[in-house]
Amino acid sequence: MKTLMIYSSVDGQTLKICDFLQKELLNLKQKIDLYSIVDFNKDPNQYDKIIIGSSIRYGVHNEKIIEFINTHKTLLDTKKTAFFSVNLVARKPAKNQPDTNPYVIKFFKKIDWKPTIVEVFAGKLDYKKYGLFDRVMIKFIMWMTKGPTDTNTEIEYTDWDHVKAFALKLKDF
Ligand SMILES: Cc1cc2nc3c(=O)[nH]c(=O)nc-3n(C[C@H](O)[C@H](O)[C@H](O)COP(=O)(O)O)c2cc1C
Repeated sequence: MKTLMIYSSVDGQTLKICDFLQKELLNLKQKIDLYSIVDFNKDPNQYDKIIIGSSIRYGVHNEKIIEFINTHKTLLDTKKTAFFSVNLVARKPAKNQPDTNPYVIKFFKKIDWKPTIVEVFAGKLDYKKYGLFDRVMIKFIMWMTKGPTDTNTEIEYTDWDHVKAFALKLKDF
């Protein structure tokens, strides 16, 4: 059993989650290759399980990830697959499940693909990493959603026990 994990990450949080998952799965004696969507140029058919992770920016998952899913839909349907989304709305307990997170719900209404497992993780808020435009926009979004608006804020909302539980699911599915 060989697993492929492909991700899209802008500020590194989705990559951090993927690195964590890869380490957990390697410890569980799984074979796993990790690629950024921009670097992946292999044949995905050589893998038995395919895991795809993407962060949300301005309401949407990365377009290259969407393109990959659409291009390989027939192949994906023959494999065991998992998808996870990383976003800040998932910091709210009422929105941290695949069937309660608005981005995940919207994503699967639009795309013609049903992965075996779907997950959602809260990401990281780190104002200092953002350029001026993004900082202002995120501050506004945080104000709207009653989150931290102090631009010195750096909070990792990711629940690592949740990520660890996901790794166990990935081992056994
Ligand atoms: C420019 C920008 C736009 C974002 N838009 C959203 C959004 O619309 N909804 C949301 O819940 N989180 C949003 N986020 C939060 C990211 O999803 C979160 O910071 C995540 O950890 C980023 O993961 P990455 O570092 O792997 O890209 C945004 C972050 C940035 C920097």
